Amino acid sequence: MKKNPIIPFALIAVLGILAMIILSVVGLNEQERIATGGDGEGETTEADPEALIQSCIGCHGGDLEGGSGPSLNDVHERLSVDEIESMIINGSENGNMPGGLVTNEEAAVLAEWLAEGQE
Ligand code: HEC
Repeated sequence: MKKNPIIPFALIAVLGILAMIILSVVGLNEQERIATGGDGEGETTEADPEALIQSCIGCHGGDLEGGSGPSLNDVHERLSVDEIESMIINGSENGNMPGGLVTNEEAAVLAEWLAEGQE
């Protein structure tokens, strides 16, 4: 019996399509895992306000008690979360506080944390 020359190609095509489906499912799962913040155990390090605040303590003090910049411990009594976020992103109007020290995403995390009184 003569072999059908089309069959090996069809097999390869089917295998290729299967591989594509498997890879995209794996990719979607991975994407979801990243979006939900790693394995779900707490926050990722880059979004940890206690780590992000390292960019700020030079001016605001090691315990945020204030230094060349004002204390941030009680900033939630003065500013809203949006005002804090825009301060971190843009810096102060008088230029004494530089903007862009952290990414906008990190600024949002920090602002929320500061607005909550760093509990
Ligand atoms: C180079 C020094 C410097 C660094 C670094 C710095 N700040 Fe500031 N920050 C200041 C100064 C100075 C002011 C006061 C600005 C003014 O007079 O309006 C200020 C003001 C602020 C305010 C408003 C406080 C208030 O009561 O009005 C917030 C919130 C703030 N900083 C957050 C941060 C955060 C969060 C970081 C780290 C990502 C940071 N700052 C890093 C100097 C700094």
